[in-house]
Amino acid sequence: MTSAPPPSVDTPAQPVMELEKEYLLQNYARYPLVLARGKGCHLFDTEGRRYLDFITGIGVNALGHAHPRILKVLREQAGLMIHSSNLYYHQYQGPLAKRLAEMSGLQRTFFANTGTEAVEGGLKFVRAHGHAIHPEKYELISLENSFHGRTLGALSATGQPKYRKDFEPLLPGVKFVPVNDIPALEAAFSERTAGMILEMIQGEGGIVPLTQQFLARARELADRYNALLVADETQCGVGRPGTYFAYQRAQPVILPDVVVAAKPVACGIPLGFIIANEKAAAAIKPGMHGSTFGGGPLACRVALEFLDVLDELLPAIQRTGGYFHVCLNDLARKHSFVKEVRGFGLMLGVELAIPGKQLVLDAMAEGLLINCTHDTVLRFLPPYIVTEKEIDQAVKILAKLFAKVQ
Ligand SMILES: Cc1ncc(COP(=O)(O)O)c(C=O)c1O
Repeated sequence: MTSAPPPSVDTPAQPVMELEKEYLLQNYARYPLVLARGKGCHLFDTEGRRYLDFITGIGVNALGHAHPRILKVLREQAGLMIHSSNLYYHQYQGPLAKRLAEMSGLQRTFFANTGTEAVEGGLKFVRAHGHAIHPEKYELISLENSFHGRTLGALSATGQPKYRKDFEPLLPGVKFVPVNDIPALEAAFSERTAGMILEMIQGEGGIVPLTQQFLARARELADRYNALLVADETQCGVGRPGTYFAYQRAQPVILPDVVVAAKPVACGIPLGFIIANEKAAAAIKPGMHGSTFGGGPLACRVALEFLDVLDELLPAIQRTGGYFHVCLNDLARKHSFVKEVRGFGLMLGVELAIPGKQLVLDAMAEGLLINCTHDTVLRFLPPYIVTEKEIDQAVKILAKLFAKVQ
């Protein structure tokens, strides 16, 4: 039996990619880059090249790489206890749930591992809430262009046919409404509506923010029809918009009944959560939901440390995010193929009139990692610790590449 080789920083990329091609499910269209390690806002490939990380593993590495406070807690907790299951208590779920309640304005947390799993649980809250009122009250309203994950329930709520088409029929009773279309939203609600799910800033759908008026109307209609309003903050939440959650950006804050999130919560250790108000939480009785891994001591302790750091970083996220937004707008003004710059905080997108994939590859060759969503939207999810200097470096690379497009 051969054991795995120790991590190396000078392994050539080709054999790594070839071995994967032979043995891995070919579901990912990976970029031809083999990463080895990271430090702060930078990643290094196996041949020692350095990259400015402006995608953070799709919004996960919120404190960049090898953050000293996260490393310290990880090392200590790994030596004490990594997993204990939900058969028993440990010291960190309670304090973390309390923190999340203070941050969100909601009450009761369930811990999951990933975004799709948190969404899946959120949909069970919706179904159970409706079912307790009437067996026919099971409809869900979702938005066109949305993305909620890859499991069958989350996929059923995802408003993009390309992700759904190979798996139909999916869950019945899901209605899709165009983003920010209030008349369509009004037409979709009925006594059969058990809930609505929305991303306050659509991520995978191309960095598309919802208006406060749309959220306010969704809240009113959910109340009128006794349906649960679920905010999927997997990508747009937990600090990224410069507030704890994206629904807190505008005043007065309009509270959802349920919030689901994951990605940055434990800085790369899988952890997701559902937090619900008492009304929504009442739908789930003992035995109706659970997880073996969810809320383990390692993940929860890292998350508590992350949230302490986040409190110090929130004003900086607003500042650096604002600075980045201005830089991207400056760039947009100089290039007619740039249609729009969108987003808030450190969740920004640049919509192009041309496909973005080649620009992503060219940026990679220049030492900048970003990605492209919805074919034409360059997506930027830099770490919360990013500095104006690093933003300048990224913008300089983009300016060079944009000039070549012209
Ligand atoms: C808004 C939203 N919800 C759910 C998910 C699914 O999360 P995961 O990939 O962790 O299952 C994503 C992933 O990108 C997302 O952006």
